[in-house]
Parts: sequence; C-alpha cells; structure tokens
Amino acid sequence: MASVVITGVGSYAPNKILTNSDLSKIVDTTDQWICERTGIKERHIAGDDEACSDLAIKAAIAALADANVKPGEIDLLIVATCSGDMPLPSTACLVQHRLGIPAHATSFDIAAACSGFLYAMEIAYGQILTNRYKCALIIGAEKLSALTDWTDRTTCVLFGDGAGAAVLRKVDQSGIGIIGSDLGADGQFVDKLCVPAGGSRKPASAQTVADRAHFIRMNGREVFKSAVRVMDQVAREMLEQHHLTADQIDLVIPHQANRRIIESLSQSLKIPLDRFYINLDRYGNTSAASIPIALAEARRFGRIKPGQITLLIAFGAGLTYGSALIRW
Ligand code: ACO
Repeated sequence: MASVVITGVGSYAPNKILTNSDLSKIVDTTDQWICERTGIKERHIAGDDEACSDLAIKAAIAALADANVKPGEIDLLIVATCSGDMPLPSTACLVQHRLGIPAHATSFDIAAACSGFLYAMEIAYGQILTNRYKCALIIGAEKLSALTDWTDRTTCVLFGDGAGAAVLRKVDQSGIGIIGSDLGADGQFVDKLCVPAGGSRKPASAQTVADRAHFIRMNGREVFKSAVRVMDQVAREMLEQHHLTADQIDLVIPHQANRRIIESLSQSLKIPLDRFYINLDRYGNTSAASIPIALAEARRFGRIKPGQITLLIAFGAGLTYGSALIRW
C-alpha cells in the first residue's frame, strides 16, 4: 500500500511590517481593540513591486529546497489564491514559467479563499495516489493588502500578505502522510464575505471604483459564527472517520483568522490551546497562505516530529471549509 507524503514545506512573508499602532494612524482603531478582539499584533505587507506570484515563488523555492526536489520534477502545480496577479491568466502559469517547471506540467489556480490550500492538497493527494501525477507543488499565496479597503476599520485590521508551499509525492509505505482529507462549500453565505465588483456580475467601472466595490466586504459577526460552527463540525467528522480521539492529535493547525475562533475551537474539541499552532499575532489573516505558512513554521520550530499526527482545519469565503489529517 502506498501513501502520499509532504516531503518539503516553505514560506515567505514580505519584509514590511504594519503594526496595530501604525493602523491606528490610518483608521479609528487601537492596538488594544485589535489585540483583544482578534489576537493580531502585526502583519506583513507586500511592496508595490511585489505581486502574488512573487510571494508564491519565494515560498515555492523554500519548499523545493526542503524537499530536495528540482522544479523539473514537478508535474502538477496548484496555486490557491484569491488575490492573483491578474484575473487572466492564472498565477500558476506565471509561477510555472519563472520557476522553470516544465510546460508539460498541469498548472492551475484554485479559488476557495482561506480553504484554498486544503482544496489544493486534496486534489494533489488524489491525483498522486491514482498515479496520474508523480510530484506536486501546492502553494497558498496572497497579497490581500491589494484587496483591502484601508478606510474600513472593520476589515483592514485583519488581513496580511504572505505565501506558503508544500511538495507532495508518493511513497511505498502505508499509513503515513495524508491520511484523511475532507472539503465542503456552502454557497448560502456568499454575500457575508466577498469582493463585490471586478467580475462579470459587476465589471469594473468608474462607479464600482467610486463605491470601493473592488475591496473585501465582510459581515464579521456572521462569518465568526459560521467559522466556529463549521470548523468544529469538520474537525469532529475527520476524527470520527479515522477513529481518533482528541488526545491523539499532537498539533492542530487552524486557519489563522481570529484568536477567539481558535480558542472556541479548542474548548469545543477539548484539545488544549497549547496543542494549536498560532501565529496570527505576527501575520494576521493571510487567507490561502495561512495554513501553509503555519505548517512551515511549525516544522521549522520543531513542533512536528516523526510519527505525530497533525490536524489542519480551514474555513473561508464561500463559505468554504475543510480539514486534513497528516501522520509524519
Ligand atoms: N477598531 C475599533 N473598533 C472597531 C473596529 C476596529 N478595528 N472594528 C469594529 N469596531 C467596532 C464596531 O464598529 C462595533 O462598534 P459598535 O458596537 O459601536 O457598533 C464594535 O467594535 C464591535 O464590532 P463587532 O463587529 O461586533 O466586533 P467583533 O467582536 O465581532 O469583532 C471581527 C469583529 C474581528 C471582524 C470578528 O467578527 C471576526 O473576526 N470575524 C471573523 C472574520 C474572519 O474570520 N474572516 C475570515 C475569512 S477571511 C477570507 O476568507 C479572505
């Protein structure tokens, strides 16, 4: 029996750091409010000359080096993002060309907001397991600062820029690597978190620009409630499916949106908070990049050891959600 394993991880965050106190000079907010309501202290912001693909490439180079894999070996490339360089073509095509991944590789973007990395992982996992591809590079990359309304204090304090990546391949050993993956999407929540304009429903016009409709709009309270409910549910289902109890999970890597969401999850799942990897204080919410950045950091900081089980849990605009179990 074979398994699909993560053979390398990497991450990148732009140099520029925007603190809560910096934000308090832009909008009517305070470091205290942001810390208490979200847990976020600072976030990385990409430069004007840095686009989503630039962040993605740096994370990918780190992941390839960690895996000791050359770009020429990649035959499946998936970039999860909602802030790609351009509406057309995919950011994956830009990454493929600049990294020197062969043109015969299948390269595409996936749009599942903050759950995008788990969507990419599920696809790569299935495709490698069924021998369609040999070696996948999956990337979560976001320049959310480009979609942020810097005049809206209810959203601009939340988001940051960054990228994380992983290399996946098959090994002839059973029971290791990705041992479970489950995804979902509930479109009834579409209007709770969206960028209203710039697509075919409301193409860009002078009016949409004047309405600031090209930026993220969110009903924070509604998203918060849905996130708590759906993350708990998807994590429970994953544990049940795999006959695992909460105390068998060594580390949980949740989507990094709000510390209160993570605390609530810790209570409902009865997994102590010190078994959750939390870095949102330093990154804010980086959407599809949040889980792979946390995964790469957790590995680097020795929070993941051979034989241990990690549970990944995501939710995002859509409302999309997902979870995955990895035995290292
Ligand atoms: N600074 C100071 N006050 C603020 C700020 C701010 N930055 N933002 C809102 N407030 C005020 C509000 O105006 C409100 O004032 P009022 O009572 O006078 O009306 C008060 O603070 C409370 O506002 P709430 O919205 O109820 O605050 P809440 O505790 O719900 O926190 C937050 C808001 C942080 C947005 C929270 O709801 C949240 O984290 N929601 C989830 C967001 C999320 O996880 N999104 C993830 C998906 S992202 C993706 O997929 C790209």
